[in-house]
Amino acid sequence: TAAKPKAELRADRTAVPVGGSVTLTCSVSPSSSSSSSSGWKYYWYYRHDSYYKVVTSPDAVFLSNGQISVSEGGLYKCIGGRGKPVYYTEYSDSVRIDKPRPVLTVSPSWLSPGASVTLNCQVEHPSAGWSFYWYKAVPDLSEKSSSYELLPDGSGTAQDSYIIHGQTHTAGYVCRAGRGDPEYHTDHSQPEFVWSADVHSAASLTVSPDRVQHFTSDSVSLTCEGNFTEWRVRKFSEDGRLSDCRRMTGSTCNIYTSESDTGVYWCESGSGEFSSAVNITVQYDGNGPILVNPVHPVTEGASVSLSCSLRTQKILSNVFFYHNDKLIQ
Ligand SMILES: *[C@@H]1O[C@H](CO)[C@@H](O)[C@H](O)[C@H]1NC(C)=O
Ligand SMILES: *[C@@H]1O[C@H](CO)[C@@H](O)[C@H](O)[C@H]1NC(C)=O
Repeated sequence: TAAKPKAELRADRTAVPVGGSVTLTCSVSPSSSSSSSSGWKYYWYYRHDSYYKVVTSPDAVFLSNGQISVSEGGLYKCIGGRGKPVYYTEYSDSVRIDKPRPVLTVSPSWLSPGASVTLNCQVEHPSAGWSFYWYKAVPDLSEKSSSYELLPDGSGTAQDSYIIHGQTHTAGYVCRAGRGDPEYHTDHSQPEFVWSADVHSAASLTVSPDRVQHFTSDSVSLTCEGNFTEWRVRKFSEDGRLSDCRRMTGSTCNIYTSESDTGVYWCESGSGEFSSAVNITVQYDGNGPILVNPVHPVTEGASVSLSCSLRTQKILSNVFFYHNDKLIQ
């Protein structure tokens, strides 16, 4: 039997202009097995987060058989079918359509008691009468994503910054912008976080072995604790990428360390709680020493023991310790 024909998807542009749309065209080329390209009916699929869904109106305007106009960013693909019983083509390759996406900055990155948190939302053409929308991320473990909840008075502000007072826990934020009448919105920004080192929250994260620095090829486990049944462990890498732990066993994330595991880690529960966050760094000089210090901050006045370790030699005899670049011992 001949190979199935494959649908082909073309887009007239790769990003949705604010207030505008993108036209998608699906077609099936005549193949050796069928000399005609007529009689096909086209079906459209769209994916924003995790799953493909059927494209329906009003998310798209159906211009003609094989042509739609969309204003939402996402991944699109199409398929053709004809005859009775329906004979389907292969799916087209998927095509990514973006929307203008603002860039959110959150400062500071780590909470200090009493300090406020400033969010700033940057759009491409800042002069032109944008209004801004501010959201808090609420973990949604079933969808492998997050949902967003408007912050108080965070709807349609004229200012491109938003200040949060009294934040005590790790939290994630996104923004988006809109303009025009009727108002068209940009896509949501990437989520950005403010991290808390405070371990006195409803959810906590423990690291074993309990140290900030690790050698490459170490086994490290990060365990979420608290009165919740479902967890995910998230990581924010040095290059600004957000990812989820791939190897979860119950509430424990197991890492076999490589340099790319350096980052900030925290837990998110199925009921929306964030744990405190920890730094993990992986020593990239295979023969260099690591400082053995606990991952969680130590209270002022408490004692803490520090040591120095080599991959090949746990106990070292001749070690210098520095505090703020000053030799102390
Ligand atoms: C993590 O590292 C950052 C940058 O070095 C630092 O500001 C922050 O206090 C650290 N957090 C913890 C919990 O050690
Ligand atoms: C855990 O949560 C359950 C249900 O919400 C509650 O009844 C129970 O008291 C909680 N346990 C602790 C130790 O907080």
